[in-house]
Amino acid sequence: MSQKQNITDVLMVGATGSIGQFAVRAAQRHGLRPRALVRDLRRAERLLPDVELVQGDLEDPASLQYAIRGADAIVLTHGSGGDSRSDARARVDYGGVLNILQALDGARPRVALMTSIYATRSDIPGATPWKRRSERLLRAGGLPHTIVRPGWFDHVGPTQRRLVLEQGGTADGGIARDQIAETLVRSLLTDNALGKTFELIATEGDEPSDWAELFGTLKSDESGSLDGVLDPVGLLVEAEPRTLRADLEAIRSLRGTSG
Ligand SMILES: NC(=O)c1ccc[n+]([C@@H]2O[C@H](COP(=O)([O-])OP(=O)(O)OC[C@H]3O[C@@H](n4cnc5c(N)ncnc54)[C@H](OP(=O)(O)O)[C@@H]3O)[C@@H](O)[C@H]2O)c1
Repeated sequence: MSQKQNITDVLMVGATGSIGQFAVRAAQRHGLRPRALVRDLRRAERLLPDVELVQGDLEDPASLQYAIRGADAIVLTHGSGGDSRSDARARVDYGGVLNILQALDGARPRVALMTSIYATRSDIPGATPWKRRSERLLRAGGLPHTIVRPGWFDHVGPTQRRLVLEQGGTADGGIARDQIAETLVRSLLTDNALGKTFELIATEGDEPSDWAELFGTLKSDESGSLDGVLDPVGLLVEAEPRTLRADLEAIRSLRGTSG
């Protein structure tokens, strides 16, 4: 059974992206009202013709406040893939989450954050710590959340529709883009997904029919912990740069101000 929370208005961050566009459609299919945060209104009007658009940039905190106002939930699928700056992941993948959380101004929306199957892996070439750091910000903020770590986008055949949700950071494989989007939106609407972090891939078989059961098999993140419940040790918070530890403290302190 899937239990619908009181969620209607959903801010979609990364809505023009390859996952975000599917996420917007998934939200509409489930009767939610998506509001897309976009940088380029004209381009977004072409991609998302029937969707409410709000102009904003994750790197410009002041531009986020209006977009966030009144949102019951936020789906974050942004990414710095198209950005060639060497610090793009820090500024967008991580900084975007930081700026969104700081712009909330006491609101406590439900949040679905997409990161990556390699979020906790330092042994994979090209993997960076910024997704894991962004996850930690979200957990530090204490909002009701779900963190989805998808595998390789669309590296699956058409008959591989059975979702596999794993914890522990060792999973590997592919997953269709539409299924990532569906999982993110379902996580907003299913109590059993609350406070959970998982890797997401697909194997041969059918689509899930019982999302509460699917999410229900997972362990919850431990209260107060900055990491997913079965995450491997690594990237010790105490050894993180001072500025990043300060970010975590700043986000933690917002918990006291939220209503
Ligand atoms: N490829 C894989 O197999 C794989 C697997 C797991 C995880 N991932 C991760 O998934 C993430 C997203 O993937 P994707 O394919 O959906 O990416 P994408 O198509 O490049 O979309 C990225 C989205 O983020 C938005 N964005 C970027 N910078 C922004 C900013 N400063 N302010 C507001 N919005 C901003 C983009 O907006 P614009 O349209 O304005 O540029 C776009 O909507 C990536 O970070 C990637 O690391 C990828």
